[in-house]
Amino acid sequence: MKRLLLINGPNLNMLGKREPDKYGRHTLKDVVRLVKDTAWEQGYEVEAYQSNHEGDLVDQIQSAVGRAAGIIINPAAYTHSSIAMRDAVSAISVPVIEIHISNVHSREEFRHHSMLAPVCSGQIVGFGIDGYRLATLGLIKKIEDEGRNDS
Ligand code: DQA
Repeated sequence: MKRLLLINGPNLNMLGKREPDKYGRHTLKDVVRLVKDTAWEQGYEVEAYQSNHEGDLVDQIQSAVGRAAGIIINPAAYTHSSIAMRDAVSAISVPVIEIHISNVHSREEFRHHSMLAPVCSGQIVGFGIDGYRLATLGLIKKIEDEGRNDS
């Protein structure tokens, strides 16, 4: 079965407890379930990974080559700072969709800029955890359109 990689960055393991006014009450487990169910309906399986460590996230992005047809990533705070994660996305040929639960553009100025966005295939922002579903469907559409459905 074709495979997608779901990568969540720092502090997203605390979803549900962390600033619920901004990120809602759903947990990371709910997010993983949502992505798996959405992907499954389209004939894809999902491997999910979360880390609070930048280097681990770089390793996961690199590991997608030959293992996954595409990546859905919420880089969390590293969105705004990580040249290493951006370079990892640039280094691989699989499509990557960036997703943010909150509308980063209506928040603090430092959240308006994404290091990764220019090298991603698309970005979904501000739809709560439903954004993960939209990102999954958008990614699969891109994979199928580009004929990159061999993993
Ligand atoms: C976030 C937005 C980031 O600015 C923040 O650091 C996060 C979560 C989001 O999903 O809205 O940790 O990526």
